[in-house]
Amino acid sequence: GGDFNQKIDYVFKVVLIGDSAVGKSQLLARFSRNQFSLDSKATIGVEFQTKTLVIDNKTVKAQIWDTAGQESKRLFRVEGNAIAIAVELLGQARPESNMTMPDRLRSPGAVYRAVTSAYYRGAVGAMLVYDMTKRQSFDNMARWLEELRGHADKNIVVMLIGNKCDLGSLRAVPTEDAQEFAQRENLFFMETSALESTNVETAFLTILTEIY
Ligand code: GTP
Ligand code: MG
Repeated sequence: GGDFNQKIDYVFKVVLIGDSAVGKSQLLARFSRNQFSLDSKATIGVEFQTKTLVIDNKTVKAQIWDTAGQESKRLFRVEGNAIAIAVELLGQARPESNMTMPDRLRSPGAVYRAVTSAYYRGAVGAMLVYDMTKRQSFDNMARWLEELRGHADKNIVVMLIGNKCDLGSLRAVPTEDAQEFAQRENLFFMETSALESTNVETAFLTILTEIY
């Protein structure tokens, strides 16, 4: 479209974290492409999407990073460990097929740590996503927050997201529990539905405006 030669004033990196199947990838698909898929596959490795928007007359490019909620899936892709090395060394999510393994990345633990630290590096915003119909995914938020605080900049803007609010009758996490956790940990909080498009745009816009 008309944004071919657009001047970008800011690039904001935002990371999505949370258990597998809470809807991180579908929130991103909804925000970046206005798409949703019910048979979405588990994410493997690291991916990102960008969306350019105007905030306060400035052009902001949001670079939203998405990874697997399941540890073992964060590491490997078809090309073996190429994804991990690419993320760490090049700072981007697309691997080169001819890359070889540096010695310091020979063990799975080393690769995992390299991917994790590359994932958080430079992030100015984070969305901690749980599935409001799965209590465990909410209880695990404290652990995700710990990983985040261990790797990210201390000024990072963090938002807690209770996704799948379209499944209200199956709710396992009362809004008040999440509000209380968010208040205690100093997080923004919103309930969303990637399926019905509820609050998805608002959540991303809130975090990006807050960063700005
Ligand atoms: P990993 O990549 O494994 O970490 O999972 P994820 O958090 O990216 O989950 P994903 O976006 O792939 O969604 C998992 C499942 O939940 C899929 O079947 C989605 O269609 C479904 N889902 C995602 N968001 C919503 C939502 O808002 N409402 C409902 N009802 N289902 C959703
Ligand atoms: Mg995913």
